[in-house]
Amino acid sequence: EKGKYPHYMLKEIFEQPESVKRAMQGRLDEEYATAHLGGLNMSTRELLEIEQVVIIGAGTSYYAGMLGAYMIENLARIPATTELSSEIRYRNPIVKRNTLYFAVSQSGETADTLYALRELKRKGGKVLGICNVVGSSIARESDGGVYIHSGPEIAVASTKAFTSQITAFYLFALLMARMRDLSFEDGLILLRGMKELPDRINAVLKQSEHIKHLAEKYSYARNFLFLGRGLNYPVALEGALKLKEVSYIHAEGYSAAEIKHGPIALINPDTPSMFIVPRDELRDKVITNMKEVKSRGGKVIALCTEGDNGVRQIADDTIEVPEVNRYLNPFLMVVPLQLFAYYMAIKLGRDVDQPRNLAKSVTVE
Ligand code: F6R
Repeated sequence: EKGKYPHYMLKEIFEQPESVKRAMQGRLDEEYATAHLGGLNMSTRELLEIEQVVIIGAGTSYYAGMLGAYMIENLARIPATTELSSEIRYRNPIVKRNTLYFAVSQSGETADTLYALRELKRKGGKVLGICNVVGSSIARESDGGVYIHSGPEIAVASTKAFTSQITAFYLFALLMARMRDLSFEDGLILLRGMKELPDRINAVLKQSEHIKHLAEKYSYARNFLFLGRGLNYPVALEGALKLKEVSYIHAEGYSAAEIKHGPIALINPDTPSMFIVPRDELRDKVITNMKEVKSRGGKVIALCTEGDNGVRQIADDTIEVPEVNRYLNPFLMVVPLQLFAYYMAIKLGRDVDQPRNLAKSVTVE
């Protein structure tokens, strides 16, 4: 089943051009520069009445939700936030009439998310699911939703589900934005960029040897920082989680802007930082943060846009990805982080597909 791949995790990372394509299949509409998501079970009129979006999830699904909230807010201008399933359930959540909830779960069986969904529904909340496993508990108990069609994800560490979950949110954000303020032209730019994603992800995958080499080079480190801003802040969190899970190296994800409020005290030559710094509106700010780390003796790997000389001059090493619409950078940025975690785990002799203490689906609270 793994075919030519030694592990499911690697196979699933390499499936992403296809799985992202499947998540978009039949859902993009060039004529109106919008998306179709029939499974939402909501009329256009009902969608128009939404005043707030709250996304719940755990682990990687929570980080996908964070990105989703950024996109919904940025593009559709609807207030959107993310909550950990395990926290919202016990907070006596305030459910308002025009709030739409999303429960994100690859397996559709995560107890924390399932119980949070039930609590929100009990209070009259409308909850949609973003699930991979068809017919799973969360898919069945939600009021509708989006299947991501990733195909089975076997490796415990989630990879292809993440890129498909965010695809679902981009589609939803596009749909909502095109009903509101986003112009046809701007909608089309995003839509066409999304269609090109499978090819762009393929180009990133071609760099796996280089990423493997970097993982080996930095395998001496026992601590790692992952730093990004804006849309790439959740990507930094996800990169740190991947590294922790499969290599057991201690890693923390932060907004690059936050390090000066504390974590910069950790910087030393043995604690490298992975900066996510695409060419976007926050690039220059992140470069400033990179310089702060360098001047304190920290090693820097920068995940940046192809040919960015400004970044090359500062970083010790770079991983460079093709230039895409600025909203789409997270798709290309997360793939090298998945590969980096994978190769690090291999180098350290870890059980990549079945990391210690972890289960694929956490059906207890
Ligand atoms: C990360 C990972 C976990 C899951 C989390 C939620 O690689 O595997 O953090 O993302 O347990 O699982 P689902 O998405 O099935 O609800």
